[in-house]
Amino acid sequence: MAGSEALAQGGGVEGAHRTDGHPEASRRDFLKILTLATGAVAVGAIAWPFIDALNPTRDSLSLAKPIVNIGGIAENTALRFVWLDQPIYIRKLTAKQIADNQFIVPSTLPDPANYTDRVKPGYETFVVVVGLNTGIQCELEGNDPSDSRGPFDGWLCPCDGSVYDPLGRLRSGPALKNLAIPRFTFLNDTQIQFG
Ligand code: FES
Repeated sequence: MAGSEALAQGGGVEGAHRTDGHPEASRRDFLKILTLATGAVAVGAIAWPFIDALNPTRDSLSLAKPIVNIGGIAENTALRFVWLDQPIYIRKLTAKQIADNQFIVPSTLPDPANYTDRVKPGYETFVVVVGLNTGIQCELEGNDPSDSRGPFDGWLCPCDGSVYDPLGRLRSGPALKNLAIPRFTFLNDTQIQFG
C-alpha cells in the first residue's frame, strides 16, 4: 500500500511528507509560529523598560559632556567649574603671557612640553587644565589676577611650593608633572564642550 494511501486512511508512516495539503498540520504550524511570535513580543514589552533605563538620560549626557561658555572670560583671568568631580580652569592669556612662554625650550622644563602641546590650534589664547597640583593634589591658586601666582604668572601651591606657568607647565617645586589637560573640543569661539 502506497504511503499517501496509508496516510489517507489515518495509518501514519514515520518521516512521510504530506503532499496533499492536509489543513491540520499547517494549522498546528501556524499556531506554533503565532505562539512564538506573541511570546517574543511579550518578552520584548516586559524587557524594554529595563533596557531603556540603561540609556543615559539627557541630563546625565549633558553632565558627562558639558558645554561651557567662554565668551565672558576676561584676559588674564580663568573660569573655574567642576567636571567629573575635578576643578577645571579655562584661562584667557594676555599677549605678554603668550610672548613669555611661546619659545621656552621644552628640555629646560621639569616635564618638557611645547607651547603647542598646551593649546588647541586656532584657540591659542585659551589654556584649559585640571586645576589640581600634580604633586599633593590640592587646588591651586592663580585664577584671579589678585591671587598669588608665583614668578611665572601662572598657578601656585603656596603650601608645597609647586609653581606652574600660565600654560600649566610645571616650573619648580616638589610636583613632577604639568597640570593635566582634560578632553575637550572648541565648538566655536565662545563654546567648549568637554568629554
Ligand atoms: S596644599 Fe596646595 S594650596 Fe595648600
